[in-house]
Amino acid sequence: MNHRSKLPNIETTIFTIMSNLANTHNAINLSQGFPNFKSDQKLIELVVDAMNSGYNQYAPMLGAMPLRAAIAEKYQQVYQANYNPEDEVVITCGATQAIYTIISAFIHAEDEVILFKPAYDCYEPAIAVNGGKSVAIQLNYPGYQIDWKLVESSITQKTKMIIINTPQNPCGTVFSKEDMLELQRITKDTNIIVLSDEVYEHMVFDGMEHQSACLFPDLKERTFITASFGKTFHNTGWKLGYCCGPSALMKEFIKVHQYNVYCVNHPTQIAIATYMNDASTYNSLPAFFQQKRDLFLNAIKGGRFKWIPTQATYFQVLDYSDITNENDIAYAKRLTIEHGLAAIPLSVFNENKRDQKVLRFCFAKTDETLLKAAKILKTI
Ligand SMILES: Cc1ncc(COP(=O)(O)O)c(C=O)c1O
Repeated sequence: MNHRSKLPNIETTIFTIMSNLANTHNAINLSQGFPNFKSDQKLIELVVDAMNSGYNQYAPMLGAMPLRAAIAEKYQQVYQANYNPEDEVVITCGATQAIYTIISAFIHAEDEVILFKPAYDCYEPAIAVNGGKSVAIQLNYPGYQIDWKLVESSITQKTKMIIINTPQNPCGTVFSKEDMLELQRITKDTNIIVLSDEVYEHMVFDGMEHQSACLFPDLKERTFITASFGKTFHNTGWKLGYCCGPSALMKEFIKVHQYNVYCVNHPTQIAIATYMNDASTYNSLPAFFQQKRDLFLNAIKGGRFKWIPTQATYFQVLDYSDITNENDIAYAKRLTIEHGLAAIPLSVFNENKRDQKVLRFCFAKTDETLLKAAKILKTI
């Protein structure tokens, strides 16, 4: 048979490549973004309780109401933003499904979608599968600042959507209030939809504040926010996330969601609804991850890597330009094979695979793992 691929340029993701290489060489794996510690036993017990209480059949299409209500309450408490749990909050199979559904619901052939590189890798394939065109704006190490004049001049008649990711994976930067005001200004009185991927909203350090799109009233009216309980509650394998947006936009989202997954895992929804009613479950995260970032960075002091402490997420970018001139993919592979430590080369997230001699390390790991990894890095 002869098929015309819808994604002819897609290769195996770097996460699979680096994780396989780490396994083969028995290396410490700081490449993929997932914790190597357990999620809270209390949360696990709540899932068991939910199963024992019979929540083992299909959940309601938009998600279990107690969870949608808990999410709406969180947005009220944290951002003083209103989302109606009846029709403005939908529970999804991770943030990934929310992102895919938003893009599928709105992107027609030839529509343009502006996004910022380095970018998390699920946006562009979803745009391509739906016949859209990605318009990438490259941000650069070390500051990754946005030139909003350039963004404004990239908007055309065909621009249907702008995707932002704050805090941003892989570079760990946070959009400032001024950034969000600029985004609000340039999209005002347009038909542009904003997809604001905020999966790391609760991992912001050094007293900085997450500037959620829902804090800006005009922006909120055109924005879908996507979020991930896998990231927030240390259980990426549960693949539970959600999406919030104004009801007019959500109506179209739901049409696709209904025939894509219909609904997602029920007992975990019931458990998280109870768990997140205690706000300390997410309010404690900045201190928890900042301690890990600082432990890791203090332990590599005196070595040859250079860095700016990451502002947010659980990723730290390290600059190896004082060590070698190799391209970042080659160096990441050599670091794994020869030194026993796996990381992600940033070029894979960049436009035209631009190499800026930086690697991304995930510090959502036990202190013991971080200290072992730091020992390797310090002596290179
Ligand atoms: C920026 C960003 N968005 C979305 C996701 C996907 O989240 P989930 O695992 O909930 O699908 C990730 C996971 O790494 C991510 O880093």
